[in-house]
Amino acid sequence: MKKKWWHNSVVYQIYPKSFCDSNNDGIGDLNGIISKLDYLKNLGIDVIWLSPVYKSPNDDNGYDISDYYDIMDEFGTMEDMDRLLKEANNRNIKILMDLVVNHTSSEHKWFKEAIKNKDSKYRDYYIFRKPLDGDVPNGLESCFGGSAWERDETSNEYYLHLFSKKQPDLNWENPNMRKEIYNMMNFWINKGIAGFRMDVIDLIGKDIDKEITGNGPKLHTLIKEMNRETFGDKNLLTVGETWGVTPDIAKLYSNPNGDELSMVFQFEHIGLDEIKGKSKWDLANLDFVELKKVFSKWQAELEGCGWNSLFWNNHDLPRIVSRWGNDKGEYRKLSAKMLATILHMQKGTPYIYQGEEIGMTNVKFDSIEDYKDIETLNMYKERIDKGYDRNDIMNSIYVKSRDNARTPMQWSKEQNGGFTKGIPWIRVNENYKDINVDEALRDKDSVFYHYKALINLRKENDVIIYGTYNCIDINHKAIYSYVRELNGIKFLVVANFYDKIEKFILPQNIHYDKCQLILSNYKDSNNIPNEIVLRPYEALIYKLI
Ligand code: NOJ
Repeated sequence: MKKKWWHNSVVYQIYPKSFCDSNNDGIGDLNGIISKLDYLKNLGIDVIWLSPVYKSPNDDNGYDISDYYDIMDEFGTMEDMDRLLKEANNRNIKILMDLVVNHTSSEHKWFKEAIKNKDSKYRDYYIFRKPLDGDVPNGLESCFGGSAWERDETSNEYYLHLFSKKQPDLNWENPNMRKEIYNMMNFWINKGIAGFRMDVIDLIGKDIDKEITGNGPKLHTLIKEMNRETFGDKNLLTVGETWGVTPDIAKLYSNPNGDELSMVFQFEHIGLDEIKGKSKWDLANLDFVELKKVFSKWQAELEGCGWNSLFWNNHDLPRIVSRWGNDKGEYRKLSAKMLATILHMQKGTPYIYQGEEIGMTNVKFDSIEDYKDIETLNMYKERIDKGYDRNDIMNSIYVKSRDNARTPMQWSKEQNGGFTKGIPWIRVNENYKDINVDEALRDKDSVFYHYKALINLRKENDVIIYGTYNCIDINHKAIYSYVRELNGIKFLVVANFYDKIEKFILPQNIHYDKCQLILSNYKDSNNIPNEIVLRPYEALIYKLI
């Protein structure tokens, strides 16, 4: 497989609204990000994925864009953006922009024109349909609850919004609209960005009349066209957000010909703690064996013919240490490091979400008033109306709300965790006095230094980047272990996923002459892996030659 720069890169996702506030208006901003670049350099990441910073009325925190050529007022100006690119570049850090082109904001000038004038050329940039028997055109539902159709009073037609009413879907069948999007992408490419994270890109090939949204019939033709018209010959990292992707589809997206994307985010592991066939709010215990099977399947399927992205967290997901680790007491650090180890030693490009590197946790606000996320608030209202028990609803929110990931980054034990001296747009997690960057930098044993070590290891060992992956004893109920191998060098990963003691025995078919313990989350771990009594959340990496 041809080597690419993103094969050995580690990406760090910034959610600007919650990262660092430089002007004390309670909202993070671009100058705040610039002030933390040295911190990110110290961590060792190569690329920043910036969640949307474009002009937006913020119905969905920037995923509703009203001007792709301008910066959100609260975040700063285009000059600040240029400075961020320059300052990042000075430190050898690349910037990925979030590309949100399944929909715009309803305040985008195209949509305003489309609504104002039925005959305007912008009408067909969106998806309008006549009512069916006086009601919505079909049964499509919004990802944020309710029908995906909203009536436009003036024309008595409905427009499609797969997300909020203020996020009308673009019509990807319209070539003029596509051309305008490609021009906009080229504008950003010319500014020197390193690529795009593509928001719900699997929805753009939809066939509305057949009620097909994800993986629609036109999807790959459109992505190939976008590739040709914009980033295709520019050596850029492109990662698609693709919820319904299967390994076969991922091979199309990330095939080594490079005529589509560099890689996609697959979410199969992310649904393993919900009741099958229901929503993310319907909670189930994680099926740990299934988790290993899912990861192992993706590792095997894309071997040599695609590329994985590796992640536990993003701005839509709960904090991994609270979700599948243990955020109580001494186990927080141990389990955060264990989770990092099993992810970062896999094959693919790892993504770290802000705060993950210091083991930030989920949050529990007593009052629904303290939640800001549109998805959470819509679900709360919908379930209250349907008569669900309020405690059950709040429990789902504590476990799954997107706001778990969106509380301000905890920099120090100062007021508001050092995020702002103003009033933060969303409450800071109360544990900021114990869990913060200052503390993590001081403590040589912190989660931060474990992430840093994992990033370094990846840089120094091709086996982590290009080696094969083989899971050991996949049906074991508590241990996750696997071997990466390249040119006679093996990396053995052994991790106890739970808080009970477990015994690991190295399978007889794994031989070695020399063995070195490379990284552990305990101080005094076994130097050889043949028979190990694993303590709670113990995670070990051995090099075997
Ligand atoms: C996926 C984004 O990650 C999420 O935050 C957003 O709400 C939807 N796409 C709609 O843009």
